[in-house]
Formats: sequence, C-alpha cells, structure tokens
Amino acid sequence: MAKKTTPQLDFNSSWNYAPAPEDTKHINLKKQYELFIDGKFVKPAKGKYFETINPANEEVLAKVAEADETDVNKAVKAARNAYNNVWSKMPAAERGKYIYRIARLMQERAREFAVIETLDGGKPIRESRDIDVPLAANHFFYYAGWADKLAYAFPNRKPQALGVAGQIIPWNFPLLMAAWKIAPALACGNTVVLKPAETTPLTALKLAEIIQESGLPNGVVNIVTGAGKTGAAIVNHPDIDKIAFTGSTDVGKIIQKSIAGTNKKLTLELGGKAAHIIFEDAPIDQAVEGIVNGIFFNQGHVCCAGSRLFVQEGVADMVIRKLKDRLETLIVGDPLDKNTDIGAINSKGQLETIHKYLKIGKEEGADMYQSNCSIPKKGYFCRPTLFLNTSQSHRIVQEEIFGPVLTIQTFRTVEEVIEKANNIPYGLSAGVWTDKGSKIFNLTTKLRAGVVWANTYNKFDPTSPFGGYKESGFGREGGMHGLSAYLKF
Ligand code: NAI
Ligand code: MG
Repeated sequence: MAKKTTPQLDFNSSWNYAPAPEDTKHINLKKQYELFIDGKFVKPAKGKYFETINPANEEVLAKVAEADETDVNKAVKAARNAYNNVWSKMPAAERGKYIYRIARLMQERAREFAVIETLDGGKPIRESRDIDVPLAANHFFYYAGWADKLAYAFPNRKPQALGVAGQIIPWNFPLLMAAWKIAPALACGNTVVLKPAETTPLTALKLAEIIQESGLPNGVVNIVTGAGKTGAAIVNHPDIDKIAFTGSTDVGKIIQKSIAGTNKKLTLELGGKAAHIIFEDAPIDQAVEGIVNGIFFNQGHVCCAGSRLFVQEGVADMVIRKLKDRLETLIVGDPLDKNTDIGAINSKGQLETIHKYLKIGKEEGADMYQSNCSIPKKGYFCRPTLFLNTSQSHRIVQEEIFGPVLTIQTFRTVEEVIEKANNIPYGLSAGVWTDKGSKIFNLTTKLRAGVVWANTYNKFDPTSPFGGYKESGFGREGGMHGLSAYLKF
C-alpha cells in the first residue's frame, strides 16, 4: 500500500494564478494630446510637450502639451467669458442636465477609462474598474442633482457662485479627483480651469473629450496640462476666484502663501498619516483584511491610507502573524492583471522616496519585514513592507511615505492610543476595529481626524464629506459640505 503523505502548504505555488490580463484593444489613445481650452483642443503657445509613461513597463503612452502662462491666461479668459455670458445666466436645472450627461457618458465609456487610468498611473485594474471610475461618475450624478436645489441646501442664505475656479489635482486618483473638483464647481454655477498631475494626465484629457461630446458650453471646463510651473500660473492668475488643491503638504503651503492677501478662496486637501487601531475585542480576521485594504491595495498611494497600525497588546502577536501570512498571498505585478493586488508605484521619483524611507526606517532601528513575492524586473514596484518595533519619534511613523509601507506599534489603554494617534502633524483619517459601539463613539469624538472609519476602511460615497485637520488641510469635499466650497453667501 502506498504510504500516505501530508501535502505541504507551499504559499508560492498555491497562490499562483494564471494571468488574467484586461484587454487593451478597445481603448482609443492618441499619440499626442493638446490643451482643452474654450471647448477646443489647441496647441500650446510655445509648442512644448512632455511624455507620460506607463509606470509598470516604463513605455511612453503619449505626448502631452505643456501649458505656460500664455496658455493659462487663455484658459482663464475662456472660463471668465463662459461664466459671464453663458453659465451664470443659464437656469440651474439646465446646468444640472449637462452634469448628468457627463456622468452618463462616463459610465458608457467606463471600461476605456479604467484601462487608461491603470496604464497611465499604475493602479490595479480592479481598483480603477470597481472604485475610481464608478465613483467618479457617481460624483457627477450626485452633484447634478444639487444644481437646482442650492436654495434648499442653504435655506435663507442666498447661495451664489464664486466665478472661475482653478483646480489642481494629484496622481493617485486622477479621474476621481477631477470629478471631485469639477462636479460641485459646475453644480454651483462656476466655470473651471483644471490641471491634472504631470504623470497622469490622460483620463482628464479623455474627460475633456466627453465634455466636448456632452455639448457643455465652450469654456465652462478648461483642462490644461503641465507640471508645477503650470500649476503656479493658475494659482497666481489675478482673474481666478477660488483655488482648490489636492496634493502634498509642501505645495499646499506654497499655495497658501502665494494667495495670502488676495480675494481668492482656498480649499486644501493635503497629506495624511492615518492611525488604524485594532482593539482586543475586534473581529481579528476582518480587521487584518481591513489593514491590508487600508495600506497595501493601491500601493499605499492614498492620502487617507491606514499607514500607522496600533494593535492592543493582547492580540498583537496574533495580528502580526496573520498580517505576515496575508502579505505572502498579495500579488505584486502587472496592474492590468485582474489578480493583481499591488500595482506599480506611480513614478520613479515616488519609488525613490519610498526607498529613502525604507532606509531611514532601518537606520532608526525598526525591524523591516517584506513579503517574499517576486516583482517584475521592469517598471516601478515595491514589495509590501511592515516596520515592527517602531516608536512615536521615528520619521517613518511621523512622515507621509505614500507607499505600501506600514508601521506597527502596540498599546494598552484607550487613552494611550488616542494620545499616540493624535500625536502627529496630520489629521485626515483614522480607523477603529472593535466589537463595542461605545468605544467607537468615544474614539470618533477624540481622534483629530476628518474621517474615522469603524470596522471598515477606505469607504467612499459622494454624499459624505471628506477633508482634514491640521497639516492635512481645510475645507470639505463631497456631500453638501462640498457645495459650500464653491459658493458665497
Ligand atoms: P505635488 O504636491 O507636487 O503634486 C500635486 C499637484 O500639484 C500636481 O498636479 C503638481 O503638478 C502640482 N504642483 C506642483 N507644484 C506646484 C506649485 N508650486 N503650484 C501649483 N501646483 C503645483 O505632489 P508630488 O510631488 O507628486 O508628491 C509628493 C508627495 O506628496 C507624495 O510623496 C505624497 O506624500 C504627497 N501626495 C499627497 C497626495 C494627496 O492626495 N494628499 C497626492 C499626491 C501626493
Ligand atoms: Mg503616466
């Protein structure tokens, strides 16, 4: 009789899935993209272009126009004319119809948008397909509904549009951030000049195509591409009434300084370093999944990423063991593959920043643990990483890394964890896992964070406001709060 052997669990082979790449044949990408000004695609004044690449294989996807001051001027002029002559005169219900139309067109082309988002930015197709694109369309749907109901949102306060909004967005949620900015601005009756990030301009330019197709009056939305200099030209333009910025705290501070003393209104959504708190009475398996979702999916390129884990002592060993096991099953690689959990880091510069922090963490004396997965040779990739034995004063605990890197600390009491969680310059978001509702309510009132998720993480909805405290910025986006950022009373 054959001897029976117990099969060995081999993580590497049991988690090998056959590749399941998303098809790219259906997308329509041009070799070169122009600026979208006054309803037309126009060449930049100086004729300069930059390349946007696919960070997963370093191949060039398209050449994109670089706008200078002359181009920004033209865009602001178009936005002002559209505001004065068309958009501010149109009945609000008509404005709403255009916003609905943009939402519907976006849904119709959702697949194309998802693939282009993944190609240009490196995020897994699962994320762009299931989160970024549907949420972006939902923002347009949601705000379309408010266009003719502003008087009900702010009773007895006579809400009025601000005029022309300059909007500057980052590379971590390119289309979604464009939707967060454009949809409420239009619903409130403003016109806009938007600048996407230089590493991820393509979905904003595809959005410009949809906007053209929707018949939105010329100049209501203008999209200018370029890097920091183009952004600064928008910020410093004298005929802009409002600046909305999402990005790094450093640039946020520069913007705040440069508009001080002007009449421009400002909202800033900056960095974060969220505390993710696990109590002993938490449903541990779900919490571990929540931790993974909070920091590793989407490469940690999320301003509200749960990047600081606090585990109550009694369950610390178990949580860390389960987390390490789960890390081994995460698939890092081709963002277009539907099995991929962690895609490409957005740019070479961002990968260098992450590596710099890995080095700092080791030098500070923390213990680094990385999964054993293989990563592609070409492109910018980083293994999911844990730092154990960290302390409050470590730079890896205090500073935003914006990569798949989690620091872990333990705690004993509720008071201790609140103090540790709040002891940071940021205050964008936090997460709590516990079986006790009273603990949740206690923490949500004491954590200095704009959003606190309980027994879940990274959940978004157009109806709920988002924004931070302290160096994470000010102003709220989403929900009714998001309307007031684009209105005067
Ligand atoms: P960044 O803040 O430089 O870029 C964000 C946007 O601002 C881009 O569109 C950029 O072109 C524009 N910009 C740059 N300089 C400007 C200026 N002087 N005036 C006006 N606009 C300007 O962010 P970067 O360098 O890409 O990333 C650096 C760090 O920022 C990341 O490592 C991360 O920690 C943080 N970050 C935070 C984000 C968030 O969602 N809160 C998003 C992206 C980055
Ligand atoms: Mg790119």
